[in-house]
Amino acid sequence: MVPLKRRRVTAVQAENRDTHVCKFSDVAIFILERKMGASRKAFLTRLGRSKGFLIAESCSPSITHVVSEGNTGDEVQAWLSNHTEGKALTDSIHLLDINWLTESMAEGRPVAIQDRHRLKTSPKLSASTSTITVKSYACQRRTPLKHHNAFLTEALEILAESAEFSENEGRSVAFRRSASVLKALPYAVRRMDDLKNLPCLGEHSQRVIKEILEDGSSGEVESTRQSEQYQAMKALTGVFGVGVRSADRWFREGLRSPLDLIRTGQKLNHAQQAGVQYYNDLNRPVTKKEALAISHIVEKAVNAVLPGAIITLTGGFRRGKEVGHDVDFLITHLEEGAEEGLMPKLVNWLEEQGLLLYQKTTRNSYLESKDGPARPPHNMDRFERCFSIFRLEQTTEGSGAFLEAASNDTGTMEGVNGRTEQQPGPTWRAVRVDLVVSPYSQFAFATLGWTGSKLFERELRRWAGQEKGMSLNSHMLYDSKQQRYLRANSEEEIFAHLGLEYIPPCDRNA
Ligand code: UTP
Ligand code: MG
Repeated sequence: MVPLKRRRVTAVQAENRDTHVCKFSDVAIFILERKMGASRKAFLTRLGRSKGFLIAESCSPSITHVVSEGNTGDEVQAWLSNHTEGKALTDSIHLLDINWLTESMAEGRPVAIQDRHRLKTSPKLSASTSTITVKSYACQRRTPLKHHNAFLTEALEILAESAEFSENEGRSVAFRRSASVLKALPYAVRRMDDLKNLPCLGEHSQRVIKEILEDGSSGEVESTRQSEQYQAMKALTGVFGVGVRSADRWFREGLRSPLDLIRTGQKLNHAQQAGVQYYNDLNRPVTKKEALAISHIVEKAVNAVLPGAIITLTGGFRRGKEVGHDVDFLITHLEEGAEEGLMPKLVNWLEEQGLLLYQKTTRNSYLESKDGPARPPHNMDRFERCFSIFRLEQTTEGSGAFLEAASNDTGTMEGVNGRTEQQPGPTWRAVRVDLVVSPYSQFAFATLGWTGSKLFERELRRWAGQEKGMSLNSHMLYDSKQQRYLRANSEEEIFAHLGLEYIPPCDRNA
């Protein structure tokens, strides 16, 4: 009786139309074209065969080794399920990185498979995926930072972003909701069946997902990503202080990048001038280490002007993100009213220390009306707030390049506050920082509102309005049926008022 492995490989040999001698009869290799491209696959196939390896044209149950380049194990499994109806997914098949094949070819024989060759896959679920129920509001479910479907969610988020650039909010939210459902799944989606019974997945999102599962990418996503409009809007809205409207107007006038703004002498407000001046730094992710360094500065500054104040790092860093686009802080004091007048003193202190490159402060304009909040409720909050750019000294890492065309001959530039300032160099970088001051009575709502993610917040407000007849924002929760404000001293109490299970910050990455 011919052993199973030998039988499998004999079947593949029949496919090997080349005249090369097959030296390793129990290894049948399939090279995945996905992400690698046809010409590289053809080159590796020829080379492998010339060295005596058995390389099959198609993926059949006879294959013992699947090699690919730039794919995750989950992506390869998804591809295999879609192209072999699950037949090739036996436990004995090896899913390997291309480095296993190149090392084997260099050695002239199949090298022993090591951990670094193996593609990692998510653990298989014991229960069928269809038995998992996913609640339809993002605030009803847990969404961790690291999830199993990044290859799908990144694509959907490109389409969401592109819809935002066209000010099509409905379309953008639809794509974000779809992506958010996939982020909450405890498994990697491999076939369309895995999406059965899931909420919020519109027809368009499903079409995109199907294309990616079958072909490795979506034509619509790739053409959007590469379009001149998407790239220019991304670059222009990447300037601090520039919104979609201005970016779109500039795009229509033929401008494509922040350098074009300078070249054509566009009239820029103070925020935008700072945005252009520190463009490269502000588009470089802020690390957790840098966020902690800023936290120490803010703590020192706040303690100097209002001892006993409480400072919370909010935003993405509170949700456990390793990097962010800015650093968000919420400041309060146990004694209601003690926080009044804090911001100007804080800004003064920071300015005196030379720590602020730009700042704009807005005053607190929140007033609680006896008859409940105005309708429709305001999503923008009205806290005293300082939008700023910090100058952060760096001990080791360099700060990176800056917009060279923006600097003058002496390497200096007219600062936004009228002074002549050095450009970011190897010793410091510019970092966006948001400082928000809240009275203690609103602190729980402000903490919840400023922790995000944006979609999680949007879903909390939608849940409150549509399911509970309540109105929620970063200042308060109002029960329209009872016609009264519901007070809370902690985020847990707010979730309880809303009839929701408490979701900790690390699971609010919707
Ligand atoms: P960010 O825009 O800073 O997002 O807003 P993020 O989640 O920290 O992610 P990064 O910075 O891109 O890494 C933080 C939270 O603050 C709320 C938003 O809802 C968001 O969830 N926020 C932001 C407001 O409530 N009002 C604002 O004007 C801005
Ligand atoms: Mg942030």
